[in-house]
Amino acid sequence: MRTLFVCALLLCFLTPVFAQRECGTVNYLNKSSQHNPLIAEKQNQVDQLTAAFIKNITQVMEGNDTIKGVAESITIPVVVHILYNKNEENISDDQVFSQIEALNNDFRKLNNDIAKVPSVFASLATDCGINFVLAKVDPDGRATTGINRKKTSRGTWLDDDKMKFSSSGGTEAWDTRQYLNIWVCNLASTILGYATFPGGPENVDGVVIRWNVFGTRGKVWAPFDKGRTTTHEVGHWLNLKHTWGDISCGDDDVHDTPKQRSYNRGCPSFPKINAGCDNGSNGDMFMNFMDFTDDACMQMFTTGQKNRMLALFAQGNVRNSLLSSKALGEPWNNTDTPAVVNTENKQTLNVFPNPADGFITISAGEGNDLSGKTIMIYSATGRLLLSTVASGNRPQINTSSLQAGIYFIRVSGSQKLPGRFIKK
Ligand code: ARG
Ligand code: ZN
Ligand code: CA
Repeated sequence: MRTLFVCALLLCFLTPVFAQRECGTVNYLNKSSQHNPLIAEKQNQVDQLTAAFIKNITQVMEGNDTIKGVAESITIPVVVHILYNKNEENISDDQVFSQIEALNNDFRKLNNDIAKVPSVFASLATDCGINFVLAKVDPDGRATTGINRKKTSRGTWLDDDKMKFSSSGGTEAWDTRQYLNIWVCNLASTILGYATFPGGPENVDGVVIRWNVFGTRGKVWAPFDKGRTTTHEVGHWLNLKHTWGDISCGDDDVHDTPKQRSYNRGCPSFPKINAGCDNGSNGDMFMNFMDFTDDACMQMFTTGQKNRMLALFAQGNVRNSLLSSKALGEPWNNTDTPAVVNTENKQTLNVFPNPADGFITISAGEGNDLSGKTIMIYSATGRLLLSTVASGNRPQINTSSLQAGIYFIRVSGSQKLPGRFIKK
């Protein structure tokens, strides 16, 4: 009777906590890529390149920290897409900055809690040499803060990628070969975050983080208030597995993280030894960013994890393209805000026919008289190609001088009605 009562009590008490700490990434992986042979093939390729890279560096390393085939230091341009329904989810710029700082601290071993790592593991804790900077140039070449906000009518999100498409209330990824995309939104309460592994489909590549565990300042929710959900998910995005390999005493393909029977939660005290997994007297490396402990109780990546991440940036491997990203250079397009059709909160021009080949007719919705307004047509890179003053409310424009492609339309005056069309 008493045991039953204790069990029931434990169940009520623990279930919500456990449920809340499910790892989004593993659920996501099980649902998606494993069932697609093309992606499995691509990820297999990543694994082979990674294994070759690691074999190569363990030969050249011998007391020397420079790694052949990879830039000395790696800088990853980041775009943060903030999707908010309630105003509190529209987190401040400062909250975003605090997350970028946390990422830089954790990946450069500059985190101020590094001293908490037990001495037996301290020599394994490593500066991964990976830096994160908010993008300065958007995919159209315009200056950006690297923070992309959008109000959405969807209240909560799941690990199903809906936040990555405007057709389902989200916002499209910026070229994932050039940016680390982070979507911050109101993920349902069981998921703190999830990530795609390298080698998956390009249009959904990136990480998703619940708004109130993103960053260290602002509206952050203890015990996930040190930005480590993002550190953990970016670890997955850079090919790191959980330290227990997601099965009992499994393998994370990293030589210097001890075997672990399972994950740890909360804040264990050292040593945390799990019987049956033979991981020695030091036990689990529960303070590794790829375990499930609380933010205040995770502090390190190992050298083995670093090498596994860096392998992705070598020539021929999937994250190499980030090293030549244009996102941190100079903006090259100084025309106005992109004529992006945001059906949720902007009125857009109507173009007919679309796709076009000869004349198009342009009209704006009710209450928007186009007569006398200047209609301007821009190329996708923001070059002004045609400009004409509308003689009536439904001006016609000859597009026969334009090459095949996508074009943007703007109208002069206070209401900068955007529009776009495709030339056949
Ligand atoms: N994917 C894991 C989850 O959704 C992230 C765990 C991160 N851990 C942390 N202490 N923030 O639960
Ligand atoms: Zn995880
Ligand atoms: Ca290991």
